[in-house]
Amino acid sequence: MRICTVVGARPQFVKAAAVSPALQSAGIQEVLVHTGQHYDRGLSQVFFDELGVPNPVTNLSVGSASHARQTGQIMERLEAFIQNSTPFDALLLYGDTNSTVAGALVSAKLQIPIAHVEAGLRSFDRTMPEEINRIVTDCLSQWLFAPTQTAVDNLRAEGLRQGTVRVGDVMLDVTRMFAKRARKRFPLSSITHHMPRKYALSTVHRPSNTDSPANLQAIFAALGCLPRPVIMPLHPRTRAKMQGIRVPGNVEIIEPISYMTMLVLIENACRLLTDSGGIQKEAYWLKTPCVTLRTDTEWPETCQHGWNSCVGTNPEAIVKAATTDPTGPQFPFGHAPRGTASGLIAEALTGRLGTGVEPHLSESGIAKQGNA
Ligand code: UD1
Repeated sequence: MRICTVVGARPQFVKAAAVSPALQSAGIQEVLVHTGQHYDRGLSQVFFDELGVPNPVTNLSVGSASHARQTGQIMERLEAFIQNSTPFDALLLYGDTNSTVAGALVSAKLQIPIAHVEAGLRSFDRTMPEEINRIVTDCLSQWLFAPTQTAVDNLRAEGLRQGTVRVGDVMLDVTRMFAKRARKRFPLSSITHHMPRKYALSTVHRPSNTDSPANLQAIFAALGCLPRPVIMPLHPRTRAKMQGIRVPGNVEIIEPISYMTMLVLIENACRLLTDSGGIQKEAYWLKTPCVTLRTDTEWPETCQHGWNSCVGTNPEAIVKAATTDPTGPQFPFGHAPRGTASGLIAEALTGRLGTGVEPHLSESGIAKQGNA
């Protein structure tokens, strides 16, 4: 079997770190295409180097642009690449970025089956570009690899049953693959002078926050009220919007960081405050309480017992959530019904997925597999 995987943005390189080796082990020939949506070294190459992701065979070099322009350019260049290649049996897509939806549209029109990893996630907020990208990609996909039962239920509610398989979360695979290595290779003292649990960590990059000076200022005002230093790796999108924003003295802005460095910083933080999707889960698996700087989440499972609170940008609500401890234990979430999510994806693609991985299997039915 020969598949083309399209990646373009930071979280997709991370997911490929688990899925690409699983595909290879299953005897699938994978051709990796980088759209060039992310191009700075700190947002792209560093992940390939650190996580051993296979080098893309081509980079479509689309760079930054408006949504329509970026999506359109990826479509045009990807179509040309596919048409000039030996035929593919499937196109594999991750998540919900413009690279994802562009890949889905091209593949559907070239009648190449689509495998969507992280299918079925919904924030139910169509002002988020990612929500539109997910809905379109799910509608066009033949394999819908859902990370959780909630995702399976969301797909069902939209009439998307065929091809849906709950495989678990590939990001849990990656966290497990790299957490131990990260602790050894990057001890906290090599990253920061702060002691474990004596600092908070924050990331902000959602357009709803960065493109609203009032929201961005409110977030920084809240961070300034926290009783701890706050480390903030800054996305270039946010950096570009910082003019006129007052940064409180306890907030330490740093450059974007690698995956393993981020794992270590998350694990040792007393709180994570973020508007990103993926790191809400990493915080949960690494047992760091999270405050989500949005009013919704694609990962409602993380909100059990206050491990994650979606509070938006109200400074009082942020400070209250950041200083309130979870009220109970965690429940397993995102685990594969057996083995790993990446392994099940490879099995499904090669048609070897047997019984025992039924979409209706509830999360509570999963044997606890230990922590990351
Ligand atoms: C994109 C995804 C988002 C994902 C995020 C991960 C979409 C619609 N959004 O958001 O879902 O969570 O990636 O980080 O696909 N820029 C640089 N250097 C780069 C890349 C971007 O400076 O290497 C700057 C540019 O000013 C650009 C801005 O960041 O305009 C936004 O980049 P873009 O890829 O459009 O969206 P992200 O905010 O990164």
